[in-house]
Amino acid sequence: MPNSHGLAIITGASRGIGLALVNRYLEAGFPVLAIARDTAVLQPRENLTVLDADLAGRAGITRAADRVKAMGLPVAVLINNAGVQNAIDFTGPDSANPMCPDCIRDEIALNLTAPMLLALCLLPLMLRPGGTIVNVTSLVSRQPKPSAPVYSASKAGLASFTQSLRVQMRSEGIRLVEAVPPLVDTGMTVGRGSGKISPEAMVDAIFVSVRDQKRLAAPGLSRRVLLLNRVWPELVRKILARS
Ligand SMILES: NC(=O)c1ccc[n+]([C@@H]2O[C@H](COP(=O)([O-])OP(=O)(O)OC[C@H]3O[C@@H](n4cnc5c(N)ncnc54)[C@H](OP(=O)(O)O)[C@@H]3O)[C@@H](O)[C@H]2O)c1
Repeated sequence: MPNSHGLAIITGASRGIGLALVNRYLEAGFPVLAIARDTAVLQPRENLTVLDADLAGRAGITRAADRVKAMGLPVAVLINNAGVQNAIDFTGPDSANPMCPDCIRDEIALNLTAPMLLALCLLPLMLRPGGTIVNVTSLVSRQPKPSAPVYSASKAGLASFTQSLRVQMRSEGIRLVEAVPPLVDTGMTVGRGSGKISPEAMVDAIFVSVRDQKRLAAPGLSRRVLLLNRVWPELVRKILARS
């Protein structure tokens, strides 16, 4: 088993981009720790360890960190991929729904707080030099999508955190990659938009960026939208507002 790589930890591993990441890192010979709340879809495979954990809560983060410590392998790559997107209308019936405050708190907890806490807990276990943290953000981190205000804010926060941590980690030899998917064909985008790329194409971009020590994994339209946002942010704001 070529686990000279060290461990690959993938959150949100039960479907979509996360499941494709699990397959990609196993194929490349990494021992993989796959984390999600419902991991029944993940068949036992050599090199694969599965953990059921709700990462929106402190208990789930602690369970994940304890499992990594128990595995006794240095962490080569931590991919903070788990995410949820809720459409929340602050003027409509959503605002009167008694579940709304919990839904907002959980969305921020999973999308933003969990990557911060996992980084905090797992940094001491990361390969030095060469360990990599990948944070999966979104184009709406640059220009918000009005129908998903909490999601947009959480992803903007995660993009900002990625930049700060990159600077802090420079002296430690740990790298940060921001993955910015375009529209990817997963459960999250059912019924939305066209021209989606496959989860596998997104994962190829992440894998190559980690391997080649790049800062960004932005395949397909993402790279062009990021460039356009530098020169014509108002146009990008209008495009993403319609997405
Ligand atoms: N698809 C896109 O076009 C797109 C675009 C931009 C950014 N992204 C980002 O890419 C990432 C992956 O998205 P995706 O499209 O693959 O989403 P997805 O198909 O909906 O999968 C989300 C994953 O997150 C896990 N998850 C949800 N809540 C969780 C919790 N409380 N604790 C632990 N795991 C949890 C889910 O597993 P369980 O339900 O089993 O827990 C699932 O494995 C997300 O961060 C998303 O924001 C996606």
